[in-house]
Amino acid sequence: MVSRTVFFVIILISECGRIFAYKRKFPNNFSFGAATASYQIEGGWNASDKSENIWDDLTHNTNLVVDKTNGDVACNSYNLYKRDVEMLTELGVDFYRFSLSWSRILPTGFSEKISDDGLKYYNAIIDNLLEANVTPIVTIYHWDLPKSLQDLGGWTNPLMADYFADFSNVVFEAFGDRVKTWLTFNEPLVFCQQGYGGMGKAPALNLTGVGEYLSAHTVLKAHAKVYHLYDENFRPAQKGRISMTISGQWYEPDTDSPEDLEAALVAEQFDVGWFGHPIFSKEGDYPNAMKERIMKRSEEQGYTKSRLPEFTAEEIEYIKGTYDFLGLNHYTTYSVKANGETNFVEPSFEHDRGVKVFQEATWPSSASSWLKVVPWGFTKMLKWIRSNYANPEVMVFENGFSDNGTTDDQDRINYHRLYLNAMLDAVDSGCNITAYTVWSLMDNMEWLRGYTELFGLYRVDFNDTERKRTPKSSAFYYRDVIKDRAVEHVKNKDDDDFDISLLL
Ligand SMILES: *[C@@H]1O[C@H](CO)[C@@H](O)[C@H](O)[C@H]1NC(C)=O
Ligand SMILES: *[C@@H]1O[C@H](CO)[C@@H](O)[C@H](O)[C@H]1NC(C)=O
Ligand SMILES: *[C@@H]1O[C@H](CO)[C@@H](O)[C@H](O)[C@H]1NC(C)=O
Ligand SMILES: *[C@@H]1O[C@H](CO)[C@@H](O)[C@H](O)[C@H]1NC(C)=O
Ligand SMILES: *[C@@H]1O[C@H](CO)[C@@H](O)[C@H](O)[C@H]1NC(C)=O
Ligand SMILES: *[C@@H]1O[C@H](CO)[C@@H](O)[C@H](O)[C@H]1NC(C)=O
Repeated sequence: MVSRTVFFVIILISECGRIFAYKRKFPNNFSFGAATASYQIEGGWNASDKSENIWDDLTHNTNLVVDKTNGDVACNSYNLYKRDVEMLTELGVDFYRFSLSWSRILPTGFSEKISDDGLKYYNAIIDNLLEANVTPIVTIYHWDLPKSLQDLGGWTNPLMADYFADFSNVVFEAFGDRVKTWLTFNEPLVFCQQGYGGMGKAPALNLTGVGEYLSAHTVLKAHAKVYHLYDENFRPAQKGRISMTISGQWYEPDTDSPEDLEAALVAEQFDVGWFGHPIFSKEGDYPNAMKERIMKRSEEQGYTKSRLPEFTAEEIEYIKGTYDFLGLNHYTTYSVKANGETNFVEPSFEHDRGVKVFQEATWPSSASSWLKVVPWGFTKMLKWIRSNYANPEVMVFENGFSDNGTTDDQDRINYHRLYLNAMLDAVDSGCNITAYTVWSLMDNMEWLRGYTELFGLYRVDFNDTERKRTPKSSAFYYRDVIKDRAVEHVKNKDDDDFDISLLL
């Protein structure tokens, strides 16, 4: 009897050990990468014939950056790109996602003058990557508009769609023989809402309740124009793929009351749906939740028309389906509850959305006030995309954690371990996810947060003129994940029986 009990205890312990040590495999052909953006790493702000962009302008001429720094030198990748490629090979990534500085390639903003040095710089990066067997993935626009085009209204000017197509045409011609995955825009919601509707990003116009919708309207048309341009003029010969990468955070209803569920649905449509619905949904156009709410508030406020511009039926068709995959940047989760208030006098995105958004005090934090560690929100976000957009191929193009730059960055390792498991939970439930990208390859200029919130796998010594890069603990961790094509299993504290259809 005793020996039998001992036997079972041993079985039980070894079984627990097996489960504990169990490594989860990534799907076949899953690819891993790291990402950066031109303004945040390049420096060389006045190198050769490059002109000023809106981030040069903001950092030089306002006090909006918390530590009063700028991207004049940043990581100096303008000169140190070979070391960047070496770091990518140390990590063993499959691809590197980086962006193009528009004003470095087209100093006037227009395509009548193309900078030889601008092209030379990106050609060198691309060729070095290919030589190192790292696939280049290029973001055409990651927030650094030439100042000359901002002076013409930036993205609120509908003609920007044409200028963006001209720029895209130049880069497809120059790099498309070697670049096979393109992203038109990075997180348009962020630069439209914070840059035009508020002051959280360049150009910091604070055109609250109007500017964010106007700029987003042009961006959606510009994206579609460039998708069609690639599809018709370049894809036949270059055989690449193109889409947009959108930000999508999860909005968890505070309670399961119908009011809170409705509030969460609205919050999600004002987030991932703003750019997601026009491009990735079966119906196209802005989500009903946005159209109805913004119309209602605009009427109450005495406007003759909704502050959200309307697409024509033709435009809806032109924009719908302009993707070869869905690019997703995901970091965190919010709680949402219904807002009893009805008196929304000031026109604003917040008032249009009209719900209460907050984060739980119990959620672990990072160096960024908005970034809480909530891995199960990632699973739900991915399931929501699967259900709402007919299970598209999803490539995760950003996911990451900020801290103070310490090299033994155990909190970052923990974040990625949890979020990779959360992503695999979504894969297990049938989501078609084919790529994962760490933001960021190295510490860099975090927009208005300057160098105070650092996301890198590599530390960069910004006090060293050589901008020495050093791998952090997380670099070795990520290298091993990529080498094993597996991550140690962690059970996320998800409510497994969550019914996603409640939020459809
Ligand atoms: C993986 O990629 C290879 C080569 O591209 C292809 O032949 C194979 O079918 C792919 N496997 C899966 C499971 O998609
Ligand atoms: C470029 O900017 C730096 C400051 O970041 C300045 O010292 C230098 O003189 C400028 N170079 C040119 C050619 O204007
Ligand atoms: C931004 O706009 C809001 C709403 O119109 C206003 O209350 C606020 O003072 C503005 N901020 C700045 C810095 O101008
Ligand atoms: C996932 O997406 C890829 C690329 O579009 C496609 O080849 C594959 O069939 C999809 N898999 C599933 C299960 O839908
Ligand atoms: C940075 O964070 C680490 C880990 O949380 C901590 O041990 C260290 O003291 C912090 N360093 C500074 C300069 O705040
Ligand atoms: C650079 O050095 C100064 C003083 O030595 C220090 O206060 C600052 O935190 C350092 N900056 C960075 C980005 O390491």
